[in-house]
Amino acid sequence: MPEQQTPTASQSSNDEFIDFLLSDQKTPEHTLKQQAQAVKAARHAATGRQQASFRPAAKPAIVFDRVTKVYQAQPGKPALNKVTLQIAFGEFVFLVGHSGSGKSTFIRLLNRELTSTRGTILVGGENLSTIKKWRIPYLRRNVGCVFQDFKLLPKKTAFENVAFALQVIGKSKAVIRNQVPEVLRLVGLGDKQHKRPDQLSGGEQQRVSIARAIVNRPPMLICDEPTGDLDPQTSLGIMKLLERINHTGTTVVVATHDKQMVNAMRKRVITLEGGYLVRDEAEGEYSLNA
Ligand SMILES: Nc1ncnc2c1ncn2[C@@H]1O[C@H](COP(=O)(O)OP(=O)(O)OP(=O)(O)O)[C@@H](O)[C@H]1O
Ligand SMILES: [Mg+2]
Repeated sequence: MPEQQTPTASQSSNDEFIDFLLSDQKTPEHTLKQQAQAVKAARHAATGRQQASFRPAAKPAIVFDRVTKVYQAQPGKPALNKVTLQIAFGEFVFLVGHSGSGKSTFIRLLNRELTSTRGTILVGGENLSTIKKWRIPYLRRNVGCVFQDFKLLPKKTAFENVAFALQVIGKSKAVIRNQVPEVLRLVGLGDKQHKRPDQLSGGEQQRVSIARAIVNRPPMLICDEPTGDLDPQTSLGIMKLLERINHTGTTVVVATHDKQMVNAMRKRVITLEGGYLVRDEAEGEYSLNA
């Protein structure tokens, strides 16, 4: 299983992963590429414990500046209330909070599925309040998304589900033939490429959805309850996979209820309560009552 590999085992393959990202000349998100380059440069400069302690000096991957989101159906109760934070490129961040605290709202603002009511959101330096409509698909190419319910196409195989993500952005058959098996191997499904979702376990289906989210090498990966429907052992495998992806330089944000997992992983933990950011701790714990 892939989680048995140590995330930092291969410096050179991590660099290849970022090289791969940088080689996609068709992607017009230059800012994000520059940040990936900064990650790579800083990684080479770092000695000893590289990724865990490393914070690139480049501008942040994500900035929330007094962000408020009010849904029309609940005008008196903002889902997010003056949330201010920054997430550096290359970080792994858990977003925790009780049901209704605003986690999914936060995630959906990041890929511009929602727009903020007040405040400013920057993703890779791009202001999501003023972003031109035509640029939104390019933003989304740089922000891979993983959801609790996998959202796989039921009649397509694992290979076809992942290939579809490349087809819609116009990648050639040659790129698809090359990249899809590679990413499926990366998530530990090299031998299950031709299985349909109903022939795969929940954990395997989530791996397919992660493969789909990262196949185009986005600099950011955002996940909303990715282990919500999985048992603890399978969840651990998925989290270890996300950690491994993070160690390639990808910024990873995971909204979750999974207290055991958050406490085991010792990552930055941002806690929301009733739409307010109430805690933000490096190597934090899940400190809400059940
Ligand atoms: N489309 C919507 N219209 C109106 N209110 C909404 C909408 N979506 C979410 N809300 C409200 O916004 C608040 C935050 O919801 P959100 O889904 O972001 O919470 P959450 O932390 O993801 O919860 P959960 O853990 O249950 O997934 C809640 O009060 C919720 O009822
Ligand atoms: Mg939610």
